[in-house]
Amino acid sequence: MADGQAGETIRVQPRESGFGAEVTGVDLSRPLPAAALAAIRDAFARHAVLWFPDQPLSLDELEAFTLQMGPFGDDPFIKPMPGRPNVLELRRAPDEKAPNFGGGWHSDWSFQPAPPSATILRSEVTPPVGGDTLFVDAARAYDDLSPTMKAMLAPLRAIHSAGRPYGANGLFARETEKRTMEIISSPEADKTHPHPLVRTHPVTGRKALFVSPTYTVGVEGLTDMEADAVLGFLYKHLLQETYRLRHTWKPGMVLMWDNRCTMHFAEGGYDGHLRVMHRTTVAGEVPV
Ligand code: SIN
Repeated sequence: MADGQAGETIRVQPRESGFGAEVTGVDLSRPLPAAALAAIRDAFARHAVLWFPDQPLSLDELEAFTLQMGPFGDDPFIKPMPGRPNVLELRRAPDEKAPNFGGGWHSDWSFQPAPPSATILRSEVTPPVGGDTLFVDAARAYDDLSPTMKAMLAPLRAIHSAGRPYGANGLFARETEKRTMEIISSPEADKTHPHPLVRTHPVTGRKALFVSPTYTVGVEGLTDMEADAVLGFLYKHLLQETYRLRHTWKPGMVLMWDNRCTMHFAEGGYDGHLRVMHRTTVAGEVPV
């Protein structure tokens, strides 16, 4: 606990596993006092996914909160909101048939040389059914591997690319159904970038698996069959129920997750209903 604003006290209520926590007793619409910011940073390092109920931030407030966590990240391949280059609107109309955005396991923009440390998502309109966001704890999943598997993975570098979703021939380029969000498919997306397959968190020092079915396209030095076998095992391991967290939204919630030690998945399941979210990212560091 720490003093919030005007005598409020921040409460951090972690889930039993320690992965994910609810944070109350703070008003994110106002500049955060140093103690409140430190408490949020500490909770973020401990729990990796934080949700803040009843925080119906305006877009200006969402941007201001993000900047207290760090400078904006760079969001490619999606047209940002008019006049707000650092805010993406994740909007899906009730009559939309195209698959929902974010519906594959990933860590945001992991194909960048320095992927975003955090993503912040604020709900505006939530559907009455579906629309949950799922997470996996890639640090605990790493911890549970055998010493032999850890030793085998230690020197490996995974190859990341945005090509599958955003490439010139990617999923978005080929889709025929109408989509509200404007996706900018590009040959730029087909570039690849290697990162350590196991990365060390710069704040906690914990190791985590840093691969995802959406953006990891291979492993340096392994044949495609070998990489498929290693990655296939890792995805099966990561996606076990024990590492999962399911976030169910209400309007006016803020959710912040750590891309350095988690993967996430937007579940969908709300055809016929409107869902509107606003998203920013916080710049990150080169993974080591
Ligand atoms: C995403 O950022 O991947 C989308 C998450 C969501 O819409 O729940």
